Amino acid sequence: MFIDRKFPNTRLRRLRRNTNLIDLVSETNLTSNDLIQPIFIKENFKGSEVIESMPNILRYGIDGALKEIEDIVLSGVNTIAVFPVIDKANKDSNGSEAIKKDNFMSASIQAIKKQFPDILLIADVALDPYTDHGHDGIIINEEVDNDETCKLLIEQSLILAESGADIIAPSDMMDGRIGLIRQALEKNNFKNTILLSYAAKFSSKFYGPFRDAVGSSSNLGNSSKSSYQMSSNNKQEALQEVAMDINEGADIVMIKPAMPYLDIIHLVKDSFKIPTFAYQVSGEYCMLKLAISEGWLDQEVMLESLVSIKRAGADAILTYAAKEISKEIKINE
Ligand code: PBG
Repeated sequence: MFIDRKFPNTRLRRLRRNTNLIDLVSETNLTSNDLIQPIFIKENFKGSEVIESMPNILRYGIDGALKEIEDIVLSGVNTIAVFPVIDKANKDSNGSEAIKKDNFMSASIQAIKKQFPDILLIADVALDPYTDHGHDGIIINEEVDNDETCKLLIEQSLILAESGADIIAPSDMMDGRIGLIRQALEKNNFKNTILLSYAAKFSSKFYGPFRDAVGSSSNLGNSSKSSYQMSSNNKQEALQEVAMDINEGADIVMIKPAMPYLDIIHLVKDSFKIPTFAYQVSGEYCMLKLAISEGWLDQEVMLESLVSIKRAGADAILTYAAKEISKEIKINE
């Protein structure tokens, strides 16, 4: 490919002499439109509280969340992903709170969309915030039961769609759930509800701080999600997962975590050429944040990590740093 390009006719450093030149030939540009801010909203709670294992990220009551969303919008980020922190008293082994009409998530979505009609709201579909064992599905005969869980996920999805979520994001990794949810949405006239599938979600230790944030880690204990989330050893299987979800009706597919799985992001985008998102998960964020706060790494590593994820092929990135990076991008524009 570069067969004729020889030194000194070609000096690649010519295009690196100053930042204007570097910017002029830049292949990847991260903008606020590429960033999605996750936000934790806590039931029966007012204001905000720190999350011990997640620097700079808070849990909000719905009042606090509305203020925070105003700040997110001001930063230039237009898309949020809301995660509920459910009261212990409302958790049970079937996650039944998830399929109650007018539950906390439903009320929160309505309140957010009322005040911010233009914001794009992503709502997670999974039972783990609602189960007292912390799994994403219900347990029958000591196993997370695929088909029975799917029935609940359909119900949960319809409630989220009806509440006004623009995008429904099943993060549970049950087989067949995208097709079942899509059919139910069509049947109930939610023709424009977008399905963002956590298509290749790996069973990862990088989710630790998130599980603290939603209060599922102590419930989960030593139990693992490896009977439904993917093994980090596999790449071909990720392609199958993604292909199936696309065939079942996903509009957007997601890979998660992001930075340790850049090869998967690249492969998926290259193979299917449909909107592909990546989730820079809690552990990835915390790792960088902690090193920055200790002074071990320069704060620019956060931007570098996000650019890497975009360069690999992600069209948009869920990241806890969305608001902060978006503000930074604005200043530098
Ligand atoms: C679970 C869910 C998880 C995350 C998003 N949805 C964690 C898990 O699978 O246990 C992880 C996000 C993060 O670590 O930032 N439905």
